[in-house]
Amino acid sequence: MPEIGFLNGRFRPLADTVVSVEDRGFQFGDGVYEVIRTYGGVPFQLDAHLARLEQSARAIELPNPFRPQEWKSHIKEGLRLAGYPESKIYIQLTRGVAPREHAFPASASPTVVMTVREMRQPDEALRLQGVAVITVEDLRWGRCEVKSLNLLPNVLARQQAQRAGVFEALFVRNGQVFEGATSNVFVVRDGTLITPPEGERILSGVTRSVILELARKEGCSVRERPVLEEDLTHAEEILLTGTTIEIMPVTRVNGKAVANGKPGTLTLLLNSRFQAFCSERSSCVSGP
Ligand code: PDD
Repeated sequence: MPEIGFLNGRFRPLADTVVSVEDRGFQFGDGVYEVIRTYGGVPFQLDAHLARLEQSARAIELPNPFRPQEWKSHIKEGLRLAGYPESKIYIQLTRGVAPREHAFPASASPTVVMTVREMRQPDEALRLQGVAVITVEDLRWGRCEVKSLNLLPNVLARQQAQRAGVFEALFVRNGQVFEGATSNVFVVRDGTLITPPEGERILSGVTRSVILELARKEGCSVRERPVLEEDLTHAEEILLTGTTIEIMPVTRVNGKAVANGKPGTLTLLLNSRFQAFCSERSSCVSGP
């Protein structure tokens, strides 16, 4: 089966899923998105992703054309048509097609796009060895909790990371570390798992909240508090979380080793708890 596209209620091959140049997503980045993956063919934490889509849409005054139950049935159909063992679902909502004028058009209906592609597991070698990151200046707007299509600072940060030959770039502003360009960040100091609090400077990651829940269940000491650059320097462990990367140990920051330069024990423990959590979810036969 080819990769699947969905445009305004109709499925078609991805190559035929085409949007007008007058779409406000193209003209202004005027829209929001979600990235969801499956385990055992079942979308992971789907309710949380759909709730975040709704919040993002509301934050930019964009009506979400589907209710959660409707989204679920479209997603289920997309997965069935694509037929991959594991899929990555990308949803994009824009303010629709209208002549280019910054203010909202009086009459435009939102464009809804969904793609279903094969999800390949992240390279296990990376998880075993850990990855390197750099820090970059956080040039983003003040509403980073909105999963907006405006990703230019993230794009530029990822390009800087790629040029530096590292896995991810961490956004830093006035000495505070917020998150990666496409991931949330955690550090371990004095045995406590620390991550920046939810708010307007980070995306409330779905994986982040699962990790917090698993860590608390494990009896770990956990704190949601501002993370400073100096926490990176003195960290016993650093890890990234995200839908596609799951949990990724960080072993170098700006060329310097984190502790002994190997993935830490808490990171490994959380990774094994996370894998167990995902396989429990994948054995739910109910689907989306
Ligand atoms: N990125 N922070 C940012 C800025 C992100 O873009 C992402 C996800 C995350 C992690 O969120 P979650 O655990 O819900 O995936 C944090 C997606 C995968 C992307 O843009 O492709």
